[in-house]
Amino acid sequence: MLRTKNLNACYGQFQALFGVDIEVAPGQTVALIGANGAGKSTLMRALAGAVGTTRAAIELDGEAAGGATERRQLARGVALVPEGRRLFPSLTVLENLQLAARNGSQGEWTVRRVLRELPAIEALQDRPATALSGGQQQLVALSRALVMNPAYLLFDEVSLGLSPAAVDEVYRLLAGARAEGLAVVLVEQNVRRALRESARFYCMQKGRIVLAGRSSEADYEQVTQAYFGA
Ligand SMILES: Nc1ncnc2c1ncn2[C@@H]1O[C@H](COP(=O)(O)OP(=O)(O)O)[C@@H](O)[C@H]1O
Ligand SMILES: [Mg+2]
Repeated sequence: MLRTKNLNACYGQFQALFGVDIEVAPGQTVALIGANGAGKSTLMRALAGAVGTTRAAIELDGEAAGGATERRQLARGVALVPEGRRLFPSLTVLENLQLAARNGSQGEWTVRRVLRELPAIEALQDRPATALSGGQQQLVALSRALVMNPAYLLFDEVSLGLSPAAVDEVYRLLAGARAEGLAVVLVEQNVRRALRESARFYCMQKGRIVLAGRSSEADYEQVTQAYFGA
């Protein structure tokens, strides 16, 4: 179980998160929903060790895990697909994946396997990663996280800027990993899609959780109101 307990986060003097409590169980998917600037990425970065918190603010399998480095969180099985992907432009697709595989854990997801599952990407494996289309780059970014064999995947802005067909491809790859027990925290601007892909949701506004519940029971009007701050 990955959970936050009264998590606060700051950028210098600016406080971006206030008393956030969320949890994701092994194998579960939760969605973070909220407008630009609500704090979704900051929360993901805090979980991944890229934004500082107190040790007690994050708990992983019952142990305090806040304020660690990204490397430490990765070793504990928490991997982030960051907003904007941040693939290495000077490396090929294959090199991006190989580097990640070396930094992560051994497991079901190997470089060979992701390339087998994504023939279109396999055909482009020797291209510079950033020469690919946005949708292809997002598949590589997700693959790069999968080959680290995390238990918890934090996926920021899954579909931002992608064509509908590309979005479906990304969710298809993600579904395969979820079926094998991967837990996911996703940020998705499309509220209906976010609810459809998740078991639970959290709506964020100005650094706080303002609404939470089971996605299957979510009232779409209520969620969009929380989204827009009504
Ligand atoms: N690196 C940063 N330095 C200073 N402020 C930041 C930084 N990143 C985000 N913020 C601020 O923190 C708040 C939350 O941002 P963010 O977590 O990116 O929101 P979201 O992902 O929901 O759009 C915003 O007010 C944003 O301007
Ligand atoms: Mg964001």
